[in-house]
Amino acid sequence: MGSKIEIIEQSFAQIKPNAEKFAASFYVNLFTKYPEVKPLFVNTDMEKQQKKLLDALIL
Ligand code: HEM
Repeated sequence: MGSKIEIIEQSFAQIKPNAEKFAASFYVNLFTKYPEVKPLFVNTDMEKQQKKLLDALIL
């Protein structure tokens, strides 16, 4: 069984080919499950935000 780091790296490698779809679905899922956080993003450019999310995960 791999370490937690290996599990994270492997699961991220599976996401990577569809990274943009993943980033978009992240916010769809977030706002569906937690509609109360939507106001936090009222002034946010969601296209840029998706890129920032991915950049952070890649880092
Ligand atoms: C894996 C999880 C997450 C990652 C990697 C992540 C990463 C980031 C990054 C990189 C930024 C941009 C910071 C900047 O512009 O300097 C950001 C902004 C933000 N994040 Fe997250 N985030 C995550 C989860 C969440 C969740 C769950 C929420 C809400 C409950 C949230 C709320 C926000 C808000 C409100 C901003 C500011 C948006 C704006 O600039 O208008 N984040 N996040």
